[in-house]
Amino acid sequence: MKKNLIAGNWKMHTTPQEARELAQKIAAGNPQNAVLCPPMTSIAAVAEITHGTAIGLGAQNCHFEAKGAFTGEVSPSMLIACGCTHVIIGHSERRTLFGETDELIAKKVWSALDAGLTPLFCVGETLSERQSESWKSVIERQLKAVFAGADPDNVGGIVIAYEPVWAIGTGLAATPEQAEEVHVFIRTCLHNLIGNPASDMLILYGGSVNEGNARTLLSQPNINGALVGGASLKAEQFLAICAAGL
Ligand code: 13P
Repeated sequence: MKKNLIAGNWKMHTTPQEARELAQKIAAGNPQNAVLCPPMTSIAAVAEITHGTAIGLGAQNCHFEAKGAFTGEVSPSMLIACGCTHVIIGHSERRTLFGETDELIAKKVWSALDAGLTPLFCVGETLSERQSESWKSVIERQLKAVFAGADPDNVGGIVIAYEPVWAIGTGLAATPEQAEEVHVFIRTCLHNLIGNPASDMLILYGGSVNEGNARTLLSQPNINGALVGGASLKAEQFLAICAAGL
């Protein structure tokens, strides 16, 4: 099992015009394993470009309810209506800057999956959690929140993204060995929680992935793709990472 998925998390960057131009440059490279996740206000512009191509389209967040009085929020079915196929859920920036809890994130993952989106569900430890050797318990807790009691027949569509917080935006990616160790741990936890479907679940690595380190990271047996921040805003770099995954 070594399918590759390269998702670009554009975070709070790009106006619709800038997003259209970036998506056009990426689409010109015809990547077969890419998902673009622009900000909400640029989703429609990117959808015009990705429609009819192999490129997936993702949002960076969603609410768990289908509709209602939730000012400022967007539901999974609304994202689908705009052409989305994927949604990032539980990114560490949502957890730390916007107070998202394991419980809230679990609701979002299941709601997105039920609506027909592929959730890119993020887990990962902070620097102090790594230094204090508590990363295993942190990641196990984050996984359990979503998968404990889950129906194993219904989990296949969830993609996990391991993003160590200390590697995000720092230029200090995990080494391939460090990342592979955690990916093996994640797969073992998933096996304990849901059994055999864990073998086929995609586990992406995220945190300072660039065209220089992508190939060695993606060659690890349990790294099935990447969630890319900064380098996804440069078409050439993002396409080089997509190519490294093939
Ligand atoms: P960087 O690639 O900029 O480190 O960001 C990673 C990330 O947060 C992707 O979701």
